[in-house]
Amino acid sequence: MYSQEELKSLVDNTITALSYNMEAPELIDPVKYILSIGGKRLRPVLALMSCNLFTDNIESALIPATGLEIFHNFTLIHDDIMDQAPVRRNLPTVHHRWNVNQAILSGDVMAFVANECFLKTPQHLLSKVFRVFNKAAVEVCVGQQLDMDYERATFVTHDEYLRMIELKTAVLIAISAKIGAVFGGADDENSDLLYEFGRNLGMAFQIQDDLLDTYGDIKVFGKTSGGDIIANKKTFLYIEAIERASPSLRNKLRELFSGKEYDPATKVKNVTDIYDQLGIKRITENVARDYIKSAFSYLDKAESGKDRKTELIRLADSLIGRET
Ligand code: IPE
Ligand code: IPE
Ligand code: MG
Ligand code: MG
Ligand code: MG
Repeated sequence: MYSQEELKSLVDNTITALSYNMEAPELIDPVKYILSIGGKRLRPVLALMSCNLFTDNIESALIPATGLEIFHNFTLIHDDIMDQAPVRRNLPTVHHRWNVNQAILSGDVMAFVANECFLKTPQHLLSKVFRVFNKAAVEVCVGQQLDMDYERATFVTHDEYLRMIELKTAVLIAISAKIGAVFGGADDENSDLLYEFGRNLGMAFQIQDDLLDTYGDIKVFGKTSGGDIIANKKTFLYIEAIERASPSLRNKLRELFSGKEYDPATKVKNVTDIYDQLGIKRITENVARDYIKSAFSYLDKAESGKDRKTELIRLADSLIGRET
């Protein structure tokens, strides 16, 4: 059985070995940059672990799993344009280091490089794997659009928020686990259990990401502190705070998120004070933990040896309480 560390290093090596069409090096420099500045490699590691649940032979899954990471990094480049984020992984974002046009195009090319990786799937699994991936890719776009729509919306319900994060984040994590299981030879029932495991893990993951955006140690988290507050993002923290605030505090919070120009640092401080008053940090941690618990309830049902699940359990546990 492979450890998380071993799988991460297999993925890193596969990324390093990728070759590109170098006719326009300016197109590929940002690709190499974003892929070389770190990242947890959660999605391919999860895929390979899910594969390893059912088989020791993970070889054929390695390049397609790496495709998931390349697709993920493509979404990050475009997400940083949309979120006007200056920093990622403690370094300038692609559109800041280069420019928006280059960030769009190098993101685009990564989507196709990811496709090249999926095309390395053995023939008998190819159409299934590609259909699962492509459906999720569309869903990520839908989720990203909803995320932007909600920046401007005054009322966003709990359910709307949950659906938005399911689409923008959880489905990619879900299909990573599912595709891994498919490579491992799992039947539909088991690969669907892995999907649900990953989906719940993904929900916890985005809720934790929302939490870290306000409460994380910025040196470790590697993104701008309070970026979501500055961008009026309807995060889990905001949705909870609106529900729990007194009418006057609720109005204050709505006012702060109304799109008026505020000094960013003051706005972040005022919003964080409201979250603190309402105990939002602890509530958010508990909800993320509940999603991890429900993720485990699906993993429990998957038909593979119990000892095979230990690495997946360790990985899922490490996502809660993570700082990066
Ligand atoms: C960031 O993903 C985007 C979200 C879905 C929250 P990660 O937190 O997996 O980013 P890296 O790849 O480890 O930097
Ligand atoms: C990102 O959500 C989801 C995708 C990239 C599809 P965020 O906007 O919260 O991710 P970060 O915080 O910038 O990594
Ligand atoms: Mg973002
Ligand atoms: Mg975003
Ligand atoms: Mg975020």
